Amino acid sequence: MRNAGRHSTFEIRDSKLLEVVQLIKGVRGAPDILPEESGRWQGLEAVARDVLDRYGYAEIRTPAFERTELFVRGIGEGTDIVEKEMYTFEDRGGESLTLRPEATASLMRAYMEHSLGAKSSLVKLYLIGPMFRHERPQSGRFRQFHQIDVEAVGSPGPAVDAEVIALLHHLLGVWGLTGIRLDLNSIGDPVCRPAYRQAFVTYAEAHRNALCPDCHVRLAKNPLRILDCKVPTCQEVAAEAPTISAYLCEPCREHFATVRSLLDCLKIEHRVNERLVRGLDYYTRTTFEFLNPVLGAQNAVAGGGRYDGLVQEIGGPPTPAIGFAIGAERILASLEAQEAAPEAPAYTGVYVATVGAEAFPAALDLVQGLRKRGLRAAVDLEARSLKGQMRQANKDRYRYSVILGSDELARGQATLKDMLSGEQHALPLGEVADRLTRLPDRENA
Ligand code: HAM
Repeated sequence: MRNAGRHSTFEIRDSKLLEVVQLIKGVRGAPDILPEESGRWQGLEAVARDVLDRYGYAEIRTPAFERTELFVRGIGEGTDIVEKEMYTFEDRGGESLTLRPEATASLMRAYMEHSLGAKSSLVKLYLIGPMFRHERPQSGRFRQFHQIDVEAVGSPGPAVDAEVIALLHHLLGVWGLTGIRLDLNSIGDPVCRPAYRQAFVTYAEAHRNALCPDCHVRLAKNPLRILDCKVPTCQEVAAEAPTISAYLCEPCREHFATVRSLLDCLKIEHRVNERLVRGLDYYTRTTFEFLNPVLGAQNAVAGGGRYDGLVQEIGGPPTPAIGFAIGAERILASLEAQEAAPEAPAYTGVYVATVGAEAFPAALDLVQGLRKRGLRAAVDLEARSLKGQMRQANKDRYRYSVILGSDELARGQATLKDMLSGEQHALPLGEVADRLTRLPDRENA
């Protein structure tokens, strides 16, 4: 991805007017995905769609913006996302809107609004798209980034937690990610978490002097977030803090134990990390993250958890649910780091080269016909030399080329060339399309 800085030194000069126009660059942290990169994105998404389909998930597409209130109530007022990171604006009608910083609240809004739960007790949804957070851009952290968000709505049972985690584990495996670690925790529910929170606050108050300024604010607003502060002195405080496991109520304890035993049964290795509290307020019970240590500071490739209270928080009936979101940029960065990027594309399709301007209309007609038959096909639109056209055909990895010269055309002939073997022969122009449709296309040899 190409990330643009705000200032440009590049100038366009109009020779007549001698006006200097500053080139407008993209927004920092919102990179372009260039043509040479988009194939990897498409591949990533195609694999995700295939695996999600196997688990019974259906795609939903919600708008990129929602009423601000949805995220404030859903994600939680004291969270970093709501306090510092939302792209919020007033539209021309005076309404406060926000570019979605995550997808879960939007999905639950749509789930309610369209009564998606009416037909089935367990609704499985996924959404692929850009999210927006005004964070400080750095490696692996963007202001516009892409998530593959997956939600299973309607069941409180631990079997769903296990299946959701197994699906994520499976998908990361199909993509070919290696060296990934799964961290798991239970953060309790409204029955048992208040007592833990109180014990934690009492402890943290006693160590206030060792906490960073941000954690002083967290202590007042969202104290459990101190547990994942990256500042070393705060981490020391967190290391000795009371842990949630001692406070879990019996139903939460049982739920967590069942999730873990199902993961064991599926041979999905995991580590209980009692400091995994996550950055959004809606979580209850199971929380999890898949981490890739090679990515440095921004090492979470996916994260999620159960959120049995979110739907109520945004005005609906009690609706248990669990899900996760994958950071697409971080998956691609992981694959790049382990050099598992997809191989160069195979040689496919046909390049129609022309010699002489008179041959162009017939070449264009041939190419259109080939495309309509489902073949990948191109023709030179820039009247380049034959050598230049053949170079282009090679560069764009065309399997065959058809050469049309004005003399040949007059005889109703064309030359068909196999770009891999170099073999070529003449054939009647009228037979070219039929012949190409029958020839092996996707093979490299
Ligand atoms: P999250 O942990 O905020 O969870 O984000 C999920 C993933 O999105 C992260 O693990 C990371 O890979 C990626 N991500 C987050 N922020 C950025 C960023 N600024 N730049 C690049 N990648 C980023 C959620 O969003 C929840 N809605 C997940 C969920 C779904 N929980 C339940 N259902």
